Amino acid sequence: MGDICHIPYQIASEGLRRDIAMLMHDVWPDVSPLPTETMISNPHDEGWQADAFYLYLDGRLASYAGIVQKAIMHQGQRFQIAGLSCVATASACRGRGLGRQTVAAATQWLERQPHVDFGIFTCHPSLAGFYADAGGWQMVPDVRLIGSEEAGALSSDALPVVVMQRLLSEKARDFAAALRHTTINLQVPAGQFI
Ligand SMILES: CC(C)(COP(=O)(O)OP(=O)(O)OC[C@H]1O[C@@H](n2cnc3c(N)ncnc32)[C@H](O)[C@@H]1OP(=O)(O)O)[C@@H](O)C(=O)NCCC(=O)NCCS
Repeated sequence: MGDICHIPYQIASEGLRRDIAMLMHDVWPDVSPLPTETMISNPHDEGWQADAFYLYLDGRLASYAGIVQKAIMHQGQRFQIAGLSCVATASACRGRGLGRQTVAAATQWLERQPHVDFGIFTCHPSLAGFYADAGGWQMVPDVRLIGSEEAGALSSDALPVVVMQRLLSEKARDFAAALRHTTINLQVPAGQFI
């Protein structure tokens, strides 16, 4: 099996961005437009710093995981948060351990980022075990994740998802109690979520 590559999404080549957009379209056709000659949609929301982890097999993008990050305020403290986003394996390549390998590489990179306090994201309940196994992510049923407090904001308790978390920095471990049995506000525009 090949090595997982990594590049900040913003400096990814046009060819890579096109391949990522094609994979996103294959997996989520309703929300991910097919790239055109002039337009390649960014799968990661504005306002987040995004890093791309990916694997090519036989010249085709086989597996992808994004890590997105931003700063939030929570209970009077500033935290740099990060989460997995747009995790996908091409349908022809599934069940061969590629998703696990890509998520593991992305999570290991995240563990080495000294400025990131904790990881958080949502996934379908059936995938909680996959993320726990691939990256040591913990399902936290007592944490509610919301996009914002605005009307129409997305919220983990209104979606068929579970919240996954990993405390990474010393600060996050010091404030561990404040990061459980709580609502964490991503402070993002309506429609954005992780
Ligand atoms: C989820 C996904 C990325 C997994 O990729 P993959 O390359 O097939 O995963 P792997 O082969 O590494 O599987 C690792 C383990 O996770 C399990 N797993 C994989 N996909 C799963 C799914 N959809 N539901 C439950 N378990 C799953 C596998 O059974 C495997 O377990 P095993 O080692 O005990 O057999 C892939 O199914 C996919 O692209 N799905 C559509 C997009 C999606 O749902 N992304 C997640 C967004 S949160």
